[in-house]
Amino acid sequence: MEKRVYIKTFGCQMNEHDSERMLALLEGCGYQETKRWEEADVILVNTCTVREKPEQKAYSIMGRFQQLKENNPAVIVGIAGCVAQQEGEQLLARIPNLDFVLGPGKIHRLPEILHAVAQGSRGVCAVDFENGDLVDLPIPHTRQLSAYVTIMQGCDNFCSYCIVPSVRGRERSRPSNEVLAEIDALIQSGAKEVVLLGQNVNAYAKNKPHELTFPQLLAKINEIPGLERIRFTTSHPRDLTEETIEAFGTVEHLCEHLHLPFQAGSDGVLARMNRGHTREEYLSKAKRLREKVPQISITADVMVGFPGETEADFDQTLELMRAVKFDGLYSFKYSPRKGTRAAQWRDDCPPEVKQRRLEVLQELQRGITLRKNKALEEAVKEILVEGQSRNSPRKMTGRTRCNRIVNFTGGPELAGELVNVKITEGLQNSIRGERCG
Ligand code: SAH
Ligand code: SF4
Ligand code: F3S
Repeated sequence: MEKRVYIKTFGCQMNEHDSERMLALLEGCGYQETKRWEEADVILVNTCTVREKPEQKAYSIMGRFQQLKENNPAVIVGIAGCVAQQEGEQLLARIPNLDFVLGPGKIHRLPEILHAVAQGSRGVCAVDFENGDLVDLPIPHTRQLSAYVTIMQGCDNFCSYCIVPSVRGRERSRPSNEVLAEIDALIQSGAKEVVLLGQNVNAYAKNKPHELTFPQLLAKINEIPGLERIRFTTSHPRDLTEETIEAFGTVEHLCEHLHLPFQAGSDGVLARMNRGHTREEYLSKAKRLREKVPQISITADVMVGFPGETEADFDQTLELMRAVKFDGLYSFKYSPRKGTRAAQWRDDCPPEVKQRRLEVLQELQRGITLRKNKALEEAVKEILVEGQSRNSPRKMTGRTRCNRIVNFTGGPELAGELVNVKITEGLQNSIRGERCG
């Protein structure tokens, strides 16, 4: 009988993509995915350590699986991802019955490790980083309309609060010919959109003079026949060049959406965060983007309660939000991460102040989002149809080029198609439309 694997993923798109690749590797060895962990032969928790919350969630879910293991010792339970990378062998001591620990640079070893565990090995730990980190992994075979493509790994920015450089290693860019070949293959298997991934994609091949630059790579990808949409994430404001800004509106298939985290609105906080850009620099890049492509959607990450953040600093964050009018915002309370520079400073913003600032900020953003959604009413947008809407079987759902989700009346035969939809209603949390060609 086929063995079943259950994968639970926390964290960013790089982690989601790692989970897809682990699944593809295991499918190649005869495993089948299950969405029900109770019936799994192998349980894999792909973890994130960027903030306290996702890390705690990963530990609590691990606790649940341990109980399962007590009832059925044949189940194999492993922990992967950035907590695995950070904690390594210590996890084996901390979590009873844990079978293996697998770092993000060691994904290719998964089948071999599962085999060893099945043969009786206990407490296998593979977390070291090598130069050969960018090992070719099978492309997921599931027919995906929108597919992730890694163009770089790691990060050299060392923002003072951030654990990513220590769990994902130094910045490494994939050769462009490999990236292009992978995209070609994905299109052959049904993809119409690619999302280029990296912690800082704007720094693609920064130290490789003979390689394509990031905007040149975008232009090359644009030429691949059959590809309808190109997206990328994440961008760092400092490395966002004028050439990349120029690509919006020029490179036909590049979608009008940019995720450009700003983290904080005051220069003092930005400097302590080691972000390498000022408030003014951020504002001027956002302005350039909107001059070039007025309808461009700009989303961002921001955090509140960084060490030393005053009410005046926080007001500057709100001011920046009012100036840019983000199309979407991911907001977080700062939490110290072991081993980062900021963790040496006193986490001096009380939890209730962090909570209040977060709520004020989210309230401001809700108003901006609602006004933006309303302003779309009557407009006709091109939608790439993803599938049936979760809430209503008679409706389909898809995204605009600006990455807004729209629900509209239509049948399942539209899945995977590009259709024009007239927006009829822009609400706080959803946008409705009618098909018009
Ligand atoms: N490479 C991406 C960010 C990855 S982490 C970038 O630079 O944009 C995703 C987000 O988590 C960050 O943008 C930041 O807003 C948040 N974050 C990172 N470390 C954090 C910490 N210690 N506390 C709270 N939020 C944090
Ligand atoms: Fe972390 Fe900064 Fe790198 Fe983003 S750019 S991954 S926030 S160190
Ligand atoms: Fe989290 Fe690791 Fe991504 S820490 S945000 S899963 S790179």
